[in-house]
Amino acid sequence: MSDLLRDATARHAAGDLDGAERLYRRVLRQQPREANALNLLGVVARQRGQPEAALAPIRQALALRPDSAVFNANLGAALAECGRLPEAVAALRHALATRPDDAVTLRNLGQALCALGQAVDALAPLRRAVALAPDAAEAWLALAHAWRDAGEAAEAAGAAEAALRCAGIAPPLAAQARFLLAALGGPQAVPDRAPADYVRDLFDGFAPRFEAELTGPLGYRTPALLAALLERSGLAQDRARTVLDLGCGTGLSGAALAGFAGRLEGLDLSPRMLAQARRRGLYDALHEADLLEWLPVHPAAFDLVAAADVLNYLGDLGPALRAMATALVPGGIAAFSVEAGEEAPYALGEALRFRHDPGHVEALAAATGFVVLAREAAVLRREKGRDVAGALFVLRR
Ligand SMILES: C[S@@+](CC[C@H](N)C(=O)[O-])C[C@H]1O[C@@H](n2cnc3c(N)ncnc32)[C@H](O)[C@@H]1O
Repeated sequence: MSDLLRDATARHAAGDLDGAERLYRRVLRQQPREANALNLLGVVARQRGQPEAALAPIRQALALRPDSAVFNANLGAALAECGRLPEAVAALRHALATRPDDAVTLRNLGQALCALGQAVDALAPLRRAVALAPDAAEAWLALAHAWRDAGEAAEAAGAAEAALRCAGIAPPLAAQARFLLAALGGPQAVPDRAPADYVRDLFDGFAPRFEAELTGPLGYRTPALLAALLERSGLAQDRARTVLDLGCGTGLSGAALAGFAGRLEGLDLSPRMLAQARRRGLYDALHEADLLEWLPVHPAAFDLVAAADVLNYLGDLGPALRAMATALVPGGIAAFSVEAGEEAPYALGEALRFRHDPGHVEALAAATGFVVLAREAAVLRREKGRDVAGALFVLRR
């Protein structure tokens, strides 16, 4: 390794991404065929949350050393982050052919297979990953999710408990493990919301595939249903309002709300969902924040606040309703969907989303000071071949 490349990797290891990138590029000006520097440029791009930018340099590295397990593993991870799952699986398998005991690559393969709906196939690499790295909470959690997707609740709970036993488990992973255990019907109290870090990671990972999957196989239609109910509740599509799309995701809901908005803002926990929303060019402003923290400090800022398929990540809707009321002008409108359940006030399903009893939501809205303009039962989308039943609400402050 040249001295310059050694300096670059030292900066990289110290977390100085800009400095490392500068030096990798200098190495490449001197030695354009230095495959490690190309691959490491890809690592830098991935660490910056720009997996698309990682693909070209990693592929150049692989053109020089096609069978490098390290480069194939890096390519597979980057492709998975880009939502290109079948290609990711191929690259990860290629890497494992020469380095079968790489626990991180095994975990990445298991997670990619799970995301492809092949949870049963994901079990073998994930079990191998935890056998190789029994103190890796992330691998145990990935195995827990795979068992859950495969319909094996007891095995899933066992893996989540193993994650919690890992020495030094990071607090967000511990919160996720406890949330999963509660969703699996464990003895722990059901939390009043999904952990924010879990929701952020879930949607950051889902962002590149979200629209294709939601509007394709899942038949998602909540934004259009909510917009139609707003019109039937007497709101004209006159572009007269300041509107906030809460949990805006990639902007499917913003597209449905745009007709009501003179100014349209979006808010979401997930930076990668927000990056997709930004590309639509639809929003006047986008905010990366937790709705429960952001709304209370923006009083009387909006005429309409809408949340399509968002409140199912919260159990107790009291704080969210109060926060929406604060952010609305007097007479302002709140519109949202919930997944409908019969247990009052709410229950946490195995799919890690909350269901709410619509009667209880209506009573809570009235107790918060809202007038209920409309409440309607609706099929929000499909999941594993079954309709997801929901309820839509339009409230006036
Ligand atoms: C299923 S997506 C729906 C996106 C969009 N509303 C639509 O209809 O396509 C749910 C979104 O809500 C966001 N979300 C969930 N809980 C949130 C919270 N507490 N604060 C902000 N955003 C949240 C997630 O990050 C995700 O992007």
